[in-house]
Amino acid sequence: MASYEGASWRNSMRVRFDFSNLLAGVVGDENGVSEQALRGLTGQAAAAAKWLQQLRAGGKAEWLDLPYQREITERVVAAGEAIAQRCDTFVVLGIGGSALGAIALQIALHHPFYNQLGPEQRGHRPRIYVLDNVDPDFVAGALDLLDLKHTVFNVVTKSGSTSETMAQLAIVRERLQSAVGSVAAEQIVATTDPSQGDLRTLAEREGYRIFDIPPTVGGRFSVLSPVGLLPAAVSGVDVNALLAGAAEADRYCRDDDLFDNPALLSAASLYLLDQQGKRITVMMPYSQRLCGVADWFRQLWAESLGKIKMVDGTVRHIGLTPVTALGVTDQHSQVQLYMDGPSDKVIIFLGVDRFDRTLKIPSTKLGLASLDYLGGHSLNELINAERLATTVALTANGRPNYTILLPEVNAFTVGQVLYTLEVQTALIGKLLGIDPFNQPGVEAGKAATYALMGRKGYEAEAKRIAKQMGGNRWIL
Ligand code: PA5
Repeated sequence: MASYEGASWRNSMRVRFDFSNLLAGVVGDENGVSEQALRGLTGQAAAAAKWLQQLRAGGKAEWLDLPYQREITERVVAAGEAIAQRCDTFVVLGIGGSALGAIALQIALHHPFYNQLGPEQRGHRPRIYVLDNVDPDFVAGALDLLDLKHTVFNVVTKSGSTSETMAQLAIVRERLQSAVGSVAAEQIVATTDPSQGDLRTLAEREGYRIFDIPPTVGGRFSVLSPVGLLPAAVSGVDVNALLAGAAEADRYCRDDDLFDNPALLSAASLYLLDQQGKRITVMMPYSQRLCGVADWFRQLWAESLGKIKMVDGTVRHIGLTPVTALGVTDQHSQVQLYMDGPSDKVIIFLGVDRFDRTLKIPSTKLGLASLDYLGGHSLNELINAERLATTVALTANGRPNYTILLPEVNAFTVGQVLYTLEVQTALIGKLLGIDPFNQPGVEAGKAATYALMGRKGYEAEAKRIAKQMGGNRWIL
């Protein structure tokens, strides 16, 4: 029996949420949410929770069911093993939601210097790179590292047409063909829409292995689909534990009682605080391993909530601005702003009870005040004391914040965090009255790129852009 199947282990690995520092009684009436305001929102919050479960029941939010896709998971795990045997490097080509989940999982669930470790220390798993930009120096630099004969590429694009990913694919495909000839297709895996898009067409034509992204799973909600799971499985992450963690969170994120559902309570609180002018959401993990989760959340929050139109068609510019910070590093930069700058932020701390490693500070006394008090403690104690210190100082200054506490960073706890944050994002979207699942602004940027790069069908857009740019003048 896997450890996550045992109830007592699961209980000991439950992620905990401490919302007390959001309350007006703690941070002051102007800065916090009052119990009365929360109680006033219970009906609307319950309706939001019901709406989400109804979407799910109607097959329109398949991302909520990803923890239970047993057949897909088995295929992903089997492919992950087979790919790991045949290559020493696995490269993901994708951008936005097609990259950030994979990055978050790699950073959270591996040695911090995984790619630099020798094959034995990596458990004979491939090195993993995610190329989520088209900066030529970056992409060419990555290609310099690769032995193409022993590299597998995973092209990930839901639309099957995003210019960045398709450009990378074109480059890689040709280089692979030169390097390995007719077997090039065996070294490309496509993750894309089940029935449409140019990547699908090419993959079928050339015989790539293909993984489907379910139709109603958008990029930023796809981390638990093959988009995130395949790179994770290739590198040896226990994807079943990850999904079990997400299923655990599903149990506590379905409730329509605000006070029993952490995703709903955080969505409701952040919604109320947004109305009080606290429009910036800072995610600050006190764990280097969770910095990728914060980056992933930044995209989820920004792209889901930043909208011009309400669902009823009213034009209003809505959105909470996500910012990431890293504890303790950013205690020496951004925390000054959070303490004393404008009171327009809510800080979400991600804390970790037990780190995998313990690093003791030697207790040798050197007769120096700045060293002697540290002796005998550990870096584990220091990082958590600093998290607590920042929380206490911000709270005393009337800066609302809350803490998501992971007992450990492992696949099961990370699965809970990712799932909870996805549900929280969908729910606050509903409370804000917008559609959290579309991204017209991002699509507009994609269309403008197609036009500027001469894609067929975008001639009118190209003309419009040329006209718009006609008046631009560089100052140098
Ligand atoms: O979350 C989203 O929908 C976006 O960030 C997409 O993931 C991103 O634009 C890439 O799109 P695609 O997967 O179609 O290449």
